[in-house]
Amino acid sequence: METRAEQFVDRRIFRIVSDVAAERGVRAFVIGGYVRDCFLGTPSKDIDIVVEGSGIDFARAVGEVTKSKVQYFKNFGTAMLRFQGNEIEFVGARKESYRRESRKPIVENGSLRDDQLRRDFTINAMAFSLQAEDFGALVDPFGGIRDLAAGIIRTPLDPDTTYSDDTLRMLRAIRFCTRLSTPEHPFHIVPESLDSMRRLNGRLSILSTERITDELCKMLRTDQPSMAFRLLDETGLLPRILPELSALKGVETIEGMGHKENFSHTLAVLDNVVAAQRARDEVAPPGPDRPDSLWLRWAALLHDIGKPATKRFVPGQGWTFHGHDIVGSRMVPRIFTALKLPLDEKMKYVRKLVWLHLRPIALVDEEVTDSAVRRLLFDAGDDIDDLMLLAGADITSKNPAKVARIKANFELVKRKLVEVEEKDAIRNFKNPITGDYVMELYGIPPCSEIGILKEYVKEAILDGRIGNNFEEADALMREKAAEMGLKPCK
Ligand code: CTP
Repeated sequence: METRAEQFVDRRIFRIVSDVAAERGVRAFVIGGYVRDCFLGTPSKDIDIVVEGSGIDFARAVGEVTKSKVQYFKNFGTAMLRFQGNEIEFVGARKESYRRESRKPIVENGSLRDDQLRRDFTINAMAFSLQAEDFGALVDPFGGIRDLAAGIIRTPLDPDTTYSDDTLRMLRAIRFCTRLSTPEHPFHIVPESLDSMRRLNGRLSILSTERITDELCKMLRTDQPSMAFRLLDETGLLPRILPELSALKGVETIEGMGHKENFSHTLAVLDNVVAAQRARDEVAPPGPDRPDSLWLRWAALLHDIGKPATKRFVPGQGWTFHGHDIVGSRMVPRIFTALKLPLDEKMKYVRKLVWLHLRPIALVDEEVTDSAVRRLLFDAGDDIDDLMLLAGADITSKNPAKVARIKANFELVKRKLVEVEEKDAIRNFKNPITGDYVMELYGIPPCSEIGILKEYVKEAILDGRIGNNFEEADALMREKAAEMGLKPCK
């Protein structure tokens, strides 16, 4: 791996920081994620500068030169300014130790080496010198470059110390391992680190839910999130964060009949969804009306969450999970509340996809009638494309012939959806008969009869007995109203 670093620090801001450091007689370094990402070929816009001295005073001095507004975070001893599209954070080098029961450190000033030692991973502890005499030199005391090249996540100190100092780092280890892994260059967490996580996973309880959930979402945004959830499981962290997902593990066998291993299946579906989203984004780049891809990933993760509660063995027949779609969708608000995820439209979207995830595949096995397709379009509304993507990703089986057959029929369902939507425009269904219209026509106040009439019309449209237009809807509604004893007042 390339270790010459001058080209990475060939920027105006680094020259300015270097001059300010020389003037003030302190040493300053670029450190952390920026350095790591330079060697990965993806330097970020977030730059962390560590100075042997006060980060706040140093930032003020740099801000005077760059004429930038400096934001101070006195509680953390850090300061931030923006310059030429970068966000630059300054911190004084620290020697920290943490109290057992809290995340709040006891901070003392320290040297660069002290500061590097207290960082999370060797690959995140590398620094570039900004001193005139060795400008751009890489300072890598713990073999970060070696670990980056070998695909290794390792802590600079004994992992028990690093993870006790900040428990969130257990989740960060998993997130970095997953995010940096590619099929050509896989990463792994060293065994002693995994052992340490198994010992210390109980300390997750001192972390705020928001920070845990933030890490989970970042794991879900990676290209192969299954890796993160496998590691969470292996280290005993998963049951402490999402016990409902852990409950999917294992296979029970009765009368020689076992069922699908639902945890692995869920992770396969999750990765399938990510791959399908990427393929779709290449053909049609995401726009403002497409929901953030994260929520479809949550739906994939939770799609079978109702299975443990609905599992039954039917003698002579095998295992069933009847109603797991409904039970699972009812669990979504609880899980979102526990994880402090938003309870707004995003939660409703996930709940809806979990509820409907079986419907497209159910159509594959039946005769694909227009009426069933209309009902699916009606229930899914604008989320029909994401539902189809999830349902397609859910086709997993060890039997390739079965997968091929289901996929072929699934394509039929997709074509039918397009045909029916073109003909009947059900996706954004608006009942042609409004409540106001009924009240005015019959001179009646708001009452249950209005709901009955509207429902009657909607059902007739979805069944295909009448077309989705006002004329036919009005005629049918008048017929039904007459049966109910209503007379138009004009
Ligand atoms: N760090 C740490 N322990 C933490 C969080 C951060 O030691 N719990 C250190 C690491 O050196 C890390 C740096 O602070 O590189 C900056 O942290 P952060 O901005 O969270 O991560 P990055 O490494 O920059 O990665 P990214 O922003 O791409 O996730």
